[in-house]
Amino acid sequence: MAKEPGRVLKPFNSSSGPDIISPVKPGTALLQAKENTSTCAQPERKQWCLQDFDIGRPLGKGKFGNVYLAREKSTKYVVAIKVLFKSQLQKAGVEHQLRREIEIQSHLSHPHILRLFQYFHDKTRVYLVLEYAPKGELYKELMKNTRFDEKRTATYMYQMTSALLYCHSKKVIHRDIKPENLLLGLTGDLKIADFGWSVHAPSSRRTTLCGTLDYLPPEMIEGKLHDEKVDLWSLGVLCYEFLVGKPPFEAETNSDTYRRITKVDLQFPPYVSHPARNLISMLLKHDPSQRITLEKVLEHPWIKENQRPAAP
Ligand code: ADE
Repeated sequence: MAKEPGRVLKPFNSSSGPDIISPVKPGTALLQAKENTSTCAQPERKQWCLQDFDIGRPLGKGKFGNVYLAREKSTKYVVAIKVLFKSQLQKAGVEHQLRREIEIQSHLSHPHILRLFQYFHDKTRVYLVLEYAPKGELYKELMKNTRFDEKRTATYMYQMTSALLYCHSKKVIHRDIKPENLLLGLTGDLKIADFGWSVHAPSSRRTTLCGTLDYLPPEMIEGKLHDEKVDLWSLGVLCYEFLVGKPPFEAETNSDTYRRITKVDLQFPPYVSHPARNLISMLLKHDPSQRITLEKVLEHPWIKENQRPAAP
């Protein structure tokens, strides 16, 4: 098929040439397609639809649908397509979260944040066209290895921190940092994915918490007004889980986890080095204003000594 003008696969904010990607319009009616064909979210532009892609193997399973490997037919550009069922989104009352995820992620462009190129929808499903992360889901790597060594952990921490600095500079807070939401690029570099819980700071939580409490900071569990410092807490939990293989406040019941988080009941196995403990302890402060800043995380001696610089 000849390449059509205006349909080259490039991120929408790339500096030159036509692109398929366009910023998402606030308030676009995502859940109102009438026919059983995928419709244009922006009628003034030629939009993508399912027929533009060859669909490949499943890459991952989500609560509202699956992610598939896909290739755009005319350019052969490889992407990942996340398919979400409208009925399930509606039943769970999370349409606003999806709209926010699209709005936020489509405007972020950073080497350690998974790109959201475009979305489209049909009568029953919403499709997110995402960057493909060839090395897959990080939590599977963690399960395979049980835990990571300090060099690998410090490298991931450096990459996470630089991505969060970028998000926070745009007043975007992720609020759901955990291994399940992280992917690995071709060179094993980390990519933050899944902005379903992200918001603009400051915020209060209006959606019911579900799933594990393990990564939540005290102020979010307690339903308080919170800001970007919630991501610093989760970064501390993540660093601990990378080094130890399980999160620091894990317990038999939710109420025991809750108690351990609010007391900051933090204990380290003997093999965790003291500089690593120092960084984790500085992130896991009950008082958000006492947490180490992202700038200082990048400068922390344990990070500086252990992180492997990106390949040229
Ligand atoms: N699993 C879930 N999303 C993915 C993506 N974008 N790339 C690779 N594997 C994935």
